[in-house]
Amino acid sequence: MRQRGHIKAPENWINDPNGFIFYNGYYHVFYQHFPYAPRWGTMHWGHAVSKDLVHWEHKGIALYPTKYADQNGCFSGSAVEHEGKLYLYYTGVHYQEIDPENIHKCLNDRFESCQMMLVSEDGEHFDNLDKKRMIIPPLADPRIGNRTHTRDPKVWRGSDAWYMVLGSSSQEQGKLLFYRSEDLKEWKLAGQTTRPGYGWMWECPDYFEADGEKILLFSPMGFMKDGRGSEDMAVCTLVDFEEETCSMRIPDEYQFLDYGLDLYAPQSTLDEQGRRTMIAWLRMPEAVDGKWRGMMCLPRGVEVRNGHICFPVHPEVQKAYSRKISSAAEASEDGYRISLELQDGEAVHIGGYRIWREDGRIYTDRSLVCVQNGKCRMQAETPEVKEDCQLDVYVDKNMIEIYVNNGEYVISHAVYGLGSEIRLEGTGTLEIYTFED
Ligand code: FRU
Repeated sequence: MRQRGHIKAPENWINDPNGFIFYNGYYHVFYQHFPYAPRWGTMHWGHAVSKDLVHWEHKGIALYPTKYADQNGCFSGSAVEHEGKLYLYYTGVHYQEIDPENIHKCLNDRFESCQMMLVSEDGEHFDNLDKKRMIIPPLADPRIGNRTHTRDPKVWRGSDAWYMVLGSSSQEQGKLLFYRSEDLKEWKLAGQTTRPGYGWMWECPDYFEADGEKILLFSPMGFMKDGRGSEDMAVCTLVDFEEETCSMRIPDEYQFLDYGLDLYAPQSTLDEQGRRTMIAWLRMPEAVDGKWRGMMCLPRGVEVRNGHICFPVHPEVQKAYSRKISSAAEASEDGYRISLELQDGEAVHIGGYRIWREDGRIYTDRSLVCVQNGKCRMQAETPEVKEDCQLDVYVDKNMIEIYVNNGEYVISHAVYGLGSEIRLEGTGTLEIYTFED
């Protein structure tokens, strides 16, 4: 099955991107996948590949439960290449109490998590029966981390060894555990860090350098207490990190990864040219046509401009929306991009979705094009944008992404039943581009 632009669930359910990597001439995105219904359940890793970050092909299921340790799910993780092979790292989950009404769910949070790996020779074959290996058993000491809530290994090559960061929880606070390995198989705890004020458990940590800065992406649970939608939110921040001691200092200041507050569990890798590139899961409040639920945002760069982390759409993606058209009705099935400048007091309406600028901020309202079941927020806003405000809005049937000043801020939203009318209330002009067919 082929898709252009966004990666969408091939059917049923997907969540986090996993094992995002450029390997053997292809971009690989694995993803958390429940193949039996459009809702979360026993986790598998689905697999999609692309030559250019624009055209994607779903390759079916890569990882699935086969061991006692991952009997109830292959949770999130990452990939690295070593000596031509693809090394996948993930969290194996075993339920100690199963919901008798739905064996895909655990009761009373009674499950154990361990860290596992599987080596694939070619990125096409994944020997789930013979090639899995447990590398970090369920934690025994609650002062280090939670036996249940420790997961999502992100592995990278440091200057002298391999490193792994895990999200965990201890004493009602989220934390990170760092491990070091010489050979990708034997892992030793090398450091840990925490910080109050960021919720009780940190999911999907990702650490890397870009533009000479050290950056942490993570998804704290129980962080947003505004009662208007999910409490779990992806954030990013500049950090201090010392490799030798694996010590990290996390500041109080943070940015949201995306101000639409629908994106979650981001993961980054290096693209073919060595540029830091990120994708994330778009949480969707309900299934589309009762068939599929969950998609990924467009691949984005990660840049630091004056101490601010920016997420511009990836240049290959921007390039793909190259055919100029005069109305949304002429756009390809896969969507279109609108480019415009917005002054204070001006607005643009896109098929029922509203974007406007006021007091220097960009505001959005999707209440006409989204189910209101309490699972997501209807309105969003950016912090104040000081300079001029150039918008690139990528519109797909079920997702809108607004890039403000080339990624200074981004607002991404799930939408349903979008119309095709585009109306600008303002003085400027807007341009529309779609894919070359
Ligand atoms: C984040 C997350 C991860 C976990 C996975 C399970 O959305 O909860 O922490 O590994 O999803 O599907």
